[in-house]
Amino acid sequence: MINQPFLISPSKTVRLFFALGAMLVLSAAARGAALADIKNLMISAGDVITSGSQGFNIRSTGLNTVGINKTVYLVPIPKTGNADKISGYQWSVTTQPASGSVSIDSNSSGLFKFRPTQPGRYIVQMVPLDLNSAPTEAVTISIWASTYLGAEGDWSCATCHDGFYLPDKVTPWKGTLHATVLKRDLNGEHGNHISKSCLPCHAMGDYVNTLGDGNFYDVAQSIGFDLNLIGTWAADAANNGNPHWDDLPAALKTVASVQCESCHGPGKTHNGDTTRISVPLLDGSICISCHDGPPHHIHPDEWKNSNHYNSNTASSTVVNGECNKCHTTEGFVEKVVRGHADIATNITTRSAINCTGCHDPHDASNPHQIRTVAAVTLPNGKSFNFGMGNLCANCHNSRIADPNVTVDVNKGSSRGAHHGPQSDIILGTSAYDWGYSYSVGAGPHYLAVENGCVECHMAAAPAGVDTSVVPIGSHTFEITDPASGISTVESACTGCHEGLTTTDRILRIPHDFDGNGANQGVQTEVTGLLTNLKNQLLARLPGTSYNSTLETISISTADWKKLNLDQRAALYNFNIISEDRSRGVHNTRYAIAVLNRSYYYLMQHPYTKDYPNAYLVDIPRNNTRMEWDRLM
Ligand code: HEC
Ligand code: HEC
Ligand code: HEC
Ligand code: HEC
Ligand code: HEC
Ligand code: HEC
Ligand code: HEC
Ligand code: HEC
Ligand code: HEC
Repeated sequence: MINQPFLISPSKTVRLFFALGAMLVLSAAARGAALADIKNLMISAGDVITSGSQGFNIRSTGLNTVGINKTVYLVPIPKTGNADKISGYQWSVTTQPASGSVSIDSNSSGLFKFRPTQPGRYIVQMVPLDLNSAPTEAVTISIWASTYLGAEGDWSCATCHDGFYLPDKVTPWKGTLHATVLKRDLNGEHGNHISKSCLPCHAMGDYVNTLGDGNFYDVAQSIGFDLNLIGTWAADAANNGNPHWDDLPAALKTVASVQCESCHGPGKTHNGDTTRISVPLLDGSICISCHDGPPHHIHPDEWKNSNHYNSNTASSTVVNGECNKCHTTEGFVEKVVRGHADIATNITTRSAINCTGCHDPHDASNPHQIRTVAAVTLPNGKSFNFGMGNLCANCHNSRIADPNVTVDVNKGSSRGAHHGPQSDIILGTSAYDWGYSYSVGAGPHYLAVENGCVECHMAAAPAGVDTSVVPIGSHTFEITDPASGISTVESACTGCHEGLTTTDRILRIPHDFDGNGANQGVQTEVTGLLTNLKNQLLARLPGTSYNSTLETISISTADWKKLNLDQRAALYNFNIISEDRSRGVHNTRYAIAVLNRSYYYLMQHPYTKDYPNAYLVDIPRNNTRMEWDRLM
């Protein structure tokens, strides 16, 4: 679960939510000199299951537009450096539509839980208390309570957001699976387990304590519809082939499935007033509010196990506009997806790469609502086209037009391409080549694997493996879990490589590339080649050091300038192959050719002189070329 482990005491609440880092984007609360901000919490279905005694008993979108009678959870978030200056908090509702419109469920210092019972504006005030329990500057948050309208119909979101006055949001949404999930539930497409308990996420609005807001449950109650029919109908449809969507009363069809208001909050009173509707942040929390529904719906937990969850904290310098386009969702969406050139100025929040980064909330033109599947032009001008993997290639590339080993440009101490050059390596490009292009080019996977990165990195885990715990497959984006050794090799690779049990595949005709006397798997051989080159680089080039986290060799600009071209290029090439991090799987021949050639130029003699058994590859000046076909 995203918010696990859950809070025990109010002060602990605050610390835990702070620790969530990537998920935390402060709410639109006042940002003056106050010691703390207010956060309107997103509580997912998974959080409700695990919250135990903390009393998070109903899902919450965390939006500031809510249904009447819907619980709102507010917590204080001390601003950086202020936690130790605060002894408590005082909460109060300073504005409400009419006296008595508020039902307060909890008013503890660290959590304010209330329900607006009438449509209208609610202003909640929080006063942080200093260490003498004296009040400090107050902060407020504004909550708009309303009822549901529906996306389609005579007076609906479609009335205005239909492409006539305002951009058409409705037609693209209608193409998503969101728009029709309950229809397909009732027509038997989702099996015979569908029941009324699935409605909180398969229909619009939640159901506990939400009487009167016009959500699915509320409408069912008001028209006297027996909700048990949902299960009966779904089972009849799935078991006997009798579809039942058409039997659903029209009033319920209006509020079925996942609609605009599932993500924007109820909008009956919005009518164009933007203070009466919410736009979700691009931090993914709106998606997680439904998609975190264990044990079956666990993509958020998987994602939390991947480094994308931390991508905006990769470096303290990623505030830079150029870094944002790959390290934050806001930057990626603005710059790469929407093509806005200058993103340095208009990004105010920076969220990790989350659901809303890779998936378009409204549009299903691409499979699975993926933001982009267009071919990518790599920084060196070469075109890269890898099916759904093009999404990944926008970020996982060398970020560099030219290795630039001949000029003294300041590229930071790593002196390599950027940290994720996987697309370049798969295409067999971007390593320095001394003026002789490498003969190998794109690896076999570039042609064979239709959806590229996605097919190998998002494959299904073996049956019974809980991917919210063991980080492999699907939204963990990993193939092997180093801790347990469990991998997705069976689903990712054996469709093409029968019987393969490890990513360290032994070629059909094995070779001893690294010259250690044994014919081993590709990853072991490439690791051997990397180690041999690394040892010589560190021994020969003054000022070099190995960064074992990034697996790169770094050097200061001053020391770099003292190197000759062969030395610089060998160092650059070591880093680009090492940082590809597949250890040869992405493109075995290219990795080996580049490492062999780099060793040759660094040492000024063939590899076999140091490693007599090594199977030599691609050293143009000696005309030693591998017969690549013999590897197949
Ligand atoms: C009577 C016309 C009308 C209806 C009906 C309507 N909207 Fe709007 N909506 C507008 C206008 C006008 C804007 C402001 C557009 C702008 O400023 O660019 C807007 C803006 C929005 C925004 C952006 C708010 C912001 O802060 O930028 C959202 C989200 C939105 N509407 C969602 C909805 C949803 C969901 C529904 C159905 C429940 C809906 N709208 C129904 C007219 C309408
Ligand atoms: C907490 C919200 C939530 C609840 C409750 C929920 N679902 Fe889902 N459901 C989702 C989401 C989100 C998806 C999208 C696919 C995914 O994340 O696995 C989905 C998709 C599905 C799908 C189609 C895709 C798939 O995974 O096969 C089926 C079938 C399904 N749900 C069955 C059910 C049944 C049966 C219930 C009730 C017993 C239920 N769901 C309750 C959120 C929920
Ligand atoms: C699955 C969740 C989801 C659904 C369903 C959804 N939206 Fe959105 N919507 C979002 C998110 C997230 C954003 C913010 C996107 C961004 O900033 O790129 C947004 C942005 C908007 C905006 C303002 C910014 C823009 O992109 O123009 C409008 C208007 C809007 N949505 C209207 C609608 C309408 C109308 C519907 C129903 C037809 C709808 N949305 C359905 C999640 C959703
Ligand atoms: C109200 C609950 C709810 C919310 C909020 C929600 N989803 Fe979903 N989502 C679902 C359900 C239910 C399905 C299953 C649809 C099906 O399989 O029929 C689904 C399916 C999907 C799919 C699968 C689509 C496909 O073609 O395979 C994607 C992708 C997705 N959601 C992304 C998102 C994103 C991104 C957001 C946030 C912007 C979001 N969802 C918000 C409930 C929700
Ligand atoms: C780094 C990009 C990326 C991120 C981040 C991401 N997704 Fe996906 N997602 C994908 C891709 C690519 C696919 C298609 C996978 C496939 O075809 O096997 C996908 C597929 C899906 C599907 C449909 C297929 C399925 O396995 O159920 C759902 C639902 C989904 N994502 C939800 C989410 C949610 C929820 C989040 C946030 C917790 C999220 N995604 C974050 C890239 C991403
Ligand atoms: C918006 C940019 C972006 C997109 C799109 C993207 N990634 Fe990433 N990815 C990153 C960044 C940045 C990191 C590194 C985060 C860190 O370590 O701080 C990363 C990390 C990873 C990792 C973890 C590597 C490690 O350090 O263990 C894998 C695996 C991965 N991405 C695969 C994928 C796949 C597969 C796709 C496409 C489905 C994809 N990524 C799409 C930017 C992106
Ligand atoms: C073209 C996309 C892109 C741009 C632009 C980009 N990065 Fe990255 N960065 C990535 C990817 C992808 C990874 C992860 C590679 C992997 O894990 O294999 C990454 C990884 C990193 C890492 C290593 C993180 C770790 O923990 O392993 C740091 C540090 C970093 N980037 C800093 C920056 C800075 C600083 C900038 C701006 C000057 C920047 N990046 C610009 C795509 C990019
Ligand atoms: C043929 C399958 C395959 C394809 C296609 C593929 N990869 Fe990989 N990738 C691997 C293997 C195998 C590893 C090594 C990880 C392991 O041994 O578990 C790896 C490693 C990585 C790593 C380092 C992961 C880590 O945890 O250290 C990243 C990041 C990565 N790949 C991204 C990508 C991207 C981005 C693409 C598409 C441009 C891609 N991969 C295409 C198989 C593949
Ligand atoms: C869609 C088919 C397909 C999938 C999936 C696939 N491969 Fe391959 N792979 C090939 C083909 C075709 C070749 C070239 C012929 C050969 O070596 O058998 C190849 C070659 C290789 C090579 C030698 C590479 C080279 O550049 O010569 C390795 C290592 C490898 N695969 C490992 C893997 C691993 C590990 C996985 C799973 C993570 C995987 N492959 C998934 C089709 C696939």
